[in-house]
Amino acid sequence: MLTSRDNNAVPAAYQGREQAYIKHRLLEAYLEKLCMIVGMSSDGLGITELCYVDCFAGPWLDESEGLGTTSIAISLGILEKCRRGLFDRGKQLHFRALYVENDEKAFGRLERHLKEHTPPGIETKGLRGDFVALRTQILDWCKRGSFAFFFIDPKGWTDVGVDVLKPLLQRAQSEFLITFMYDFANRAVSMQDFQVQISELLGERPKVSGLSPPDREKAVLRTYRRNLEACVYSNTQWPARSAYVRVQDRLKDRTKYHLVYLTGHPLGIVKFMEISEKLDIVQKHTRAVTKQRSQIEKSGQTTLFEAGEFISEDDGRVSGDEVEQYWLSKLSDVRRMFGNTEFAGILEETDWFPGDLQLALGRLMDQGKIVNIDAKGRRKTRFLHYDLGRGERLQLTGGKP
Ligand SMILES: C[S@@+](CC[C@H](N)C(=O)[O-])C[C@H]1O[C@@H](n2cnc3c(N)ncnc32)[C@H](O)[C@@H]1O
Repeated sequence: MLTSRDNNAVPAAYQGREQAYIKHRLLEAYLEKLCMIVGMSSDGLGITELCYVDCFAGPWLDESEGLGTTSIAISLGILEKCRRGLFDRGKQLHFRALYVENDEKAFGRLERHLKEHTPPGIETKGLRGDFVALRTQILDWCKRGSFAFFFIDPKGWTDVGVDVLKPLLQRAQSEFLITFMYDFANRAVSMQDFQVQISELLGERPKVSGLSPPDREKAVLRTYRRNLEACVYSNTQWPARSAYVRVQDRLKDRTKYHLVYLTGHPLGIVKFMEISEKLDIVQKHTRAVTKQRSQIEKSGQTTLFEAGEFISEDDGRVSGDEVEQYWLSKLSDVRRMFGNTEFAGILEETDWFPGDLQLALGRLMDQGKIVNIDAKGRRKTRFLHYDLGRGERLQLTGGKP
């Protein structure tokens, strides 16, 4: 779980690759949430088995014996924590994990780690080879009827093209977390020589000419998400949905990659975005500390100030006015219910954080413009309980009863 402690320190083992720290905190926090939610509803869902698939497992840039800063050790730790947590709550799910790695030396270390560190209640397997060539084997390993979470984290971009991922995306009862190398896409998207590669990656060539850098980023990401979603197993009741976390360069103020998340369940989007919001603060602190350290190293002088003193938690967030206008345009004088499904739709449509949407609602309620029909008494922070029962009803003040 992400806590305020995560704001303060980046473990020494992540120094020089602070982006991996953000990626791993997201993996850890979301995987735990997912396993607990799926596990607790397993009877209703008819699920007896939970699979974690690390499609580009490593180990990568971690020479330690315990592999503590790799997705291998992190995922194993979370799976074991959830298996025990669910067992204590009377749920006996079978946990399995598959780790795919191409490189011979890395695979040797992976196999050794699995042999020595797999917790007793979990079944693990290492699979050596090229992820693309192994897609059918990976799907066979998952077996039918299990719930599967795929972590797809290559170094480059060729293996996360829409068509390459399609066979996996078509699997029912699956969720995906994909590292999308925006650094590459951003540079290549308007270069004539790269149009074939861009089309393979995004599923089509987006129109970006004349767009500002932030709008270009949105357009590229929207294209990729839309084409991935079109491949995800879905039906009218459970349409494919996506969200993302932006991971910035450790020192420069630009996007390095996005972690794109795909699911068929609205609750997944809500939980992912709640975690993403907490992670935004962690990332701001991490980058401030990293920049400060880099400056000290360059100048040879220490500084009197704590890195955290220069962080504005609002940096890069949507303006309050914009969110207020959005709510006003969304509501009318007829009551409208907002539960997890409706709120997930808003998060997907806007890419804003839940907290920004809540604060704008609170201000509009204070101004007497919006009313929450189901709220009993004055609230301080969570002005809409989208996650309680079917949710709550909002309407413009003075509307129909
Ligand atoms: C970015 S690293 C993975 C990091 C790891 N997921 C983590 O978070 O700790 C990518 C890994 O994929 C491996 N790899 C590269 N190409 C591959 C391929 N085609 N199939 C499977 N593994 C591959 C590399 O050897 C490397 O270990």
